[in-house]
Amino acid sequence: MKLARRLQAIKPSPTLALNSRAKALVAQGVDVAVLAAGEPDFDTPDYVKQAAVEAIRSGFTKYTPTNGIPELREAVCRKLERENGLKFTPDQVLITAGGKQALYNLCQAVLDEGDEVLIFSPYWVSYPDMVHLASGTPVIVPTREENGFAPDPDSIRRALTPRTRAVIINSPGNPTGAVYSRAALEGIAEALRSHDCLIITDDIYEKLLYTDERLGISDVAPDLVPRLVVINALSKSHAMTGWRMGYVAGPKPLVSAMQLIQDQSTSNASSIGQKAALAALQGPADTITTMVAEYRVRRDLIVGGLNALDGIRCRMPEGAFYAFADVRGLYGRNYKGKPVTGSMQLSEILLDDFRVAAVPGDPFGAEGYIRMSFATSREVLKKGLGRVAELVQALR
Ligand SMILES: Cc1ncc(COP(=O)(O)O)c(C=O)c1O
Repeated sequence: MKLARRLQAIKPSPTLALNSRAKALVAQGVDVAVLAAGEPDFDTPDYVKQAAVEAIRSGFTKYTPTNGIPELREAVCRKLERENGLKFTPDQVLITAGGKQALYNLCQAVLDEGDEVLIFSPYWVSYPDMVHLASGTPVIVPTREENGFAPDPDSIRRALTPRTRAVIINSPGNPTGAVYSRAALEGIAEALRSHDCLIITDDIYEKLLYTDERLGISDVAPDLVPRLVVINALSKSHAMTGWRMGYVAGPKPLVSAMQLIQDQSTSNASSIGQKAALAALQGPADTITTMVAEYRVRRDLIVGGLNALDGIRCRMPEGAFYAFADVRGLYGRNYKGKPVTGSMQLSEILLDDFRVAAVPGDPFGAEGYIRMSFATSREVLKKGLGRVAELVQALR
């Protein structure tokens, strides 16, 4: 069958694929330590569920305006002002089916064929593919672990061209868990100041923090706010991945264009989900604080455990829920008579022979690394660590 040409550059999400394979094994009764998931293992807070139940009971089950119910867009504006110091009006906000739809619509709204988007690697796997789906060109700017995975301003400058339409910032980041320092953000701002492009900040992990301070680009460069686009979702902060609730705030013409795309594709995000999202945005912070306290314990557990293994080195992430381990120290050692040469191969060995699901770094643009999620129980983490240790011992 003939399929659209722009699909040729698209790969299925490797994280979803690995997760599905691991889940299929679990369904067959295999005891897999699943460290692949990018979603909280916590349940959605009760007050959020109650709001959804109330929406269903009261018959709030019909179409809403495409851009979302006014009270939710107002709540998003209040949140952005209170927590991020950003002033947006409700007509600059679009409610979407998760952060993914916000990013997807954004790419569709701004990119023409060959338009470029700067993406810092290691990056979330979907960024380049969303750009490809809009016939754009992802331009990868590598970062270094020694610099806290923050981009060097000179490499940003070198990557900028007249076709650069946008830059994506993701701090805390997936897969690294890195939170950009003030100096790093200032460097990015300085490099972008003279180039008129959109600055997209994907803040989906902003609440999952193990450090006292997390700044946004707008905190260090208020002059860039007119071209700032904020993407966020309740997925990670409120353990609401399945609800598909996200939002975007940005320049009005852009948000209106994104709304047009949504008008002709999916229309409004679920009416019930919107009521739940409203409750989440207005709700108490203590459920998040409790989750973050537990994530912190797990982070220390897995990072400490990985660093105790010969050949593995893992930077302490300041946010999100991923340990991003450098496994290059294992390369060249033999497993069943064959040398280990890559992260994909290592992930396959881990799943097939040691029953650990971990995602290879390669699809994140970071060959040499493996991502392990600590959004799972301490028991599963300990089991997973024990099995990774067995693999390390089995290498010759
Ligand atoms: C960096 C980043 N941005 C956006 C998303 C999208 O999240 P969702 O569409 O589930 O809200 C994810 C999900 O894993 C992510 O890791």
